[in-house]
Formats: sequence, structure tokens, C-alpha cells
Amino acid sequence: MLNDVNTITVRQTQFKPEKIKAHYTESTLMSHFLTALSMSFPQGERFFVETVRNVRNQIHDEQLQKDISGFIGQEAHHARAHEQFNQLVQSNDYHLKNFEKAYEQEMIRLRTLSQRRQLAATVALEHFTAMMAGYMLEYPNIMFKGLSENMKNLWLWHAVEEIEHKHVAFDVYQQVFANLAQRRRSMRTITVGFISSTIVMTSHLVWQDRKNTLYSPKQVLKNTQTLLGLTQMMWRLLPDYLAFYKASFHPSEIDQQDLLIKAKALLVR
Ligand SMILES: [Fe+2]
Ligand SMILES: [Fe+2]
Repeated sequence: MLNDVNTITVRQTQFKPEKIKAHYTESTLMSHFLTALSMSFPQGERFFVETVRNVRNQIHDEQLQKDISGFIGQEAHHARAHEQFNQLVQSNDYHLKNFEKAYEQEMIRLRTLSQRRQLAATVALEHFTAMMAGYMLEYPNIMFKGLSENMKNLWLWHAVEEIEHKHVAFDVYQQVFANLAQRRRSMRTITVGFISSTIVMTSHLVWQDRKNTLYSPKQVLKNTQTLLGLTQMMWRLLPDYLAFYKASFHPSEIDQQDLLIKAKALLVR
């Protein structure tokens, strides 16, 4: 059982690219938040893969080489699935096209940095994705309420695989660079960038969909609960977030194995 849990499995997603409504969870705000995250995935995850590939030839540990292959396979599939999702959920009056362009520019800038800084950025962002994935699996009633089976196949699948490969970029960074000061510095920069861009993108989607999100009393109530839920998420994740700054930190010290076992059982095969 332990081996199965620790394996990085590259799965085909059962998510079917079909028309997606802007609101696919019970709360419109939660849909906008998840969509904002999804918008950043395709470019972000391709960047993660590149940063690990850049230094892969310096890894001589056989198991880590295998894990890198699993990580690359999983992230490549995620990028493709979220690209499809992003195309299907957007319309003329519901989109983040300007942000996608801004992201592109940011990725070009990131690629001019040293390989160490690029990989440190990936390590920091992978910590964020693993923390949030764990939260999604632990509190599906906050994050996934009202999600259709097809949407679950996307979000649940992605969350499971993020937890499975959460140690890979970190281990590569430790074996190649092992620079603690850079790891901490990059986490501080990434924290500001990631949180502010997610808030700004979510707010843009909320504004574009203000008729359903802000002017409907029923939704205002649900969205207030969502806002409280997201604030609670930040507080609950704070200890795991702060743990990253410890010199001895390793992603596997955050135990998400039980969650992973339960979530895998729910994945449609
Ligand atoms: Fe991913
Ligand atoms: Fe990842």
C-alpha cells in the first residue's frame, strides 16, 4: 500500500472538454477563484517542467530521475487539460485574455533569470499548489460544492497528482543547488506575486460577472461564505506555509497520505 501511495502515476484525465458554464460550483465566487487559478496553470506548469529539465542531467539518483519523469508527464497533462478548460469557460464577456498576455511576458522575464532562481520559483509555487491541493481534498464542501462529475474529474485529478509529485522540484533543487537563502527569498517574492495576481484575476472575473455574483442576494450570501472559507483556508495553511522557511523543511513532512488514499478512490478510472 505504501509503495502505491508513494508512486507518481501519470494518468489520463477523464475530464471531457465540453461546454463549461462560468458557474460550475454552487458559489459563483468559488468558480471565479478556481478559474483564475486555472488560467495560470498552462503557462506556469510548462515553466515548472522546463526549470527541472534545465538541470536534470545533474541528477544521479535513479529514483529521483524516475520521479522527474512522472512529474514531467503529470504536469504536461495538467497544462493541456487546463488549456482546454480555459478555452471552454471563456467567452467574449468573461475572460482573462489581458492577464494571459501579462503572464506570457512574466514567463519571458522569469526565463532570463539564473537556473537556480528559476527552479527556486518552481519549488515555491509547487509548495503552494500542494498546500492548496491538500486543502481542496480535505474540505471539498468548501472548495468543490456543486461540482459536476466532469469538473471533479479535472480538479480532483489535478489535486491528487500535485500531492503525488510535491517533493520532486524540491529534491532536484536540494541536490543541485541546496541554497537556503535563495529558497527563502524566492518564496517571499512568489508569495506576493501569487496571492496578488490571484486576487486581481478573481476580482476581474467577479466584475465581468457582477450581475450574477454581486447583484443576486442569494449569491451574495453564498459568496460571503466562500470569502470566509477562503480566508479560513489561508489561516489553516499558514503553519504549512511557514514550515517552508525552516532550514530542515521537506515537503513530505506535511502528511497528506490519508487524504491521497481517499481521493484516489474517488477518481473515475
Ligand atoms: Fe499541475
Ligand atoms: Fe505541480
